[in-house]
Amino acid sequence: MSHRVALIPGDGVGQEVTAEARRAVDALDLAIEWTELPWGSAHYAEHGAMMPPDAIDVLRAHDAVLLGAMGDPSVPDHISLWGSILAMRQPLDLWANLRPCRLLPGIPSPLAGREPGDFDILFVRENTEGEYSGAGGRAHHGHPTEVAVEAGIFTRAGIQRVVRHGFELAAGRGGLLTSATKSNASRFGYVLWDEVCEEEAARFPDVRYERVLVDALAARMVRSPESLDVVVASNLFGDILTDLAAAIQGGMGMAASANVAPGAEGVPGVYEPVHGSAPDIAGRGIANPAGAIWSASLMLEHLGEADAAARLMRALEDVCRDGPRTGDVGGSATTREVGDAVVAALR
Ligand code: IPM
Ligand code: MN
Repeated sequence: MSHRVALIPGDGVGQEVTAEARRAVDALDLAIEWTELPWGSAHYAEHGAMMPPDAIDVLRAHDAVLLGAMGDPSVPDHISLWGSILAMRQPLDLWANLRPCRLLPGIPSPLAGREPGDFDILFVRENTEGEYSGAGGRAHHGHPTEVAVEAGIFTRAGIQRVVRHGFELAAGRGGLLTSATKSNASRFGYVLWDEVCEEEAARFPDVRYERVLVDALAARMVRSPESLDVVVASNLFGDILTDLAAAIQGGMGMAASANVAPGAEGVPGVYEPVHGSAPDIAGRGIANPAGAIWSASLMLEHLGEADAAARLMRALEDVCRDGPRTGDVGGSATTREVGDAVVAALR
């Protein structure tokens, strides 16, 4: 069966790393029909929007979306992001953001004395509501009395589906689900979150469940990351914890993600490296393509190509272990050289 994949290289290093991810996927000889969509800041400069008005319908006509990064200093971040990735997550209802954070052999970690096996955490981040629901407003612009309200929206249904998915994934991994909240200081949303977790925990007697305050969890990720397996967290907490995790696994260039709607028919997942467009190094050919290639592997897994996904991941792991590596992870190779090596490892 052939897969229709929308490729959005986007801005900055997004273009460089997705080129390598695409080459690696093509080297697997699957039946993939790529549609390249030139959306992002250049589209904004020309049309006043990051994506065309029918963007969601265009994406829906595909089985998956591979996204590089969107954002550029020429467009304020809250405008470029609410016109791109955030404008995909909510309308497509991609309610889970899966972020496997694993230290791969050969990649230096800033955590002293840690080996690859010590750091292997799957984050399940709520992806459409919570602190990033986009609800709020401003009044009294420019006056000393100016106010801004940023509402955190937590729904029982929204919490339940993501927490339940966390339990399902934990059941298939190490059997531990850690939920991150802050229900000592925040009295409503996170307390509801904790209650829903308790209810779901009762449905998964084989999974050990623990709830940890997010500040304590951040410390534990540094002190004893080997004690964690699957972590489920709200949108904001998942966002922050996964940047910490990315740093521990070698840097933002290593970090992969899958925006998905588990169980939904006909909804394309959006797969993207977490590093963003990195304008400071864009155009120099030195960005690390690992996060993009890893994201492509997640995409293949969700497309039902488990063998190909595993092959691609093994090739990436071989290259991380044996080199070449880009500068951010201790090497001096170009983006292209790493891509070539992954393709060669697949042969
Ligand atoms: C990420 C990014 C995005 C997010 C931003 C760019 C909106 O930081 O994927 O983690 O917060 O989800
Ligand atoms: Mn982030």
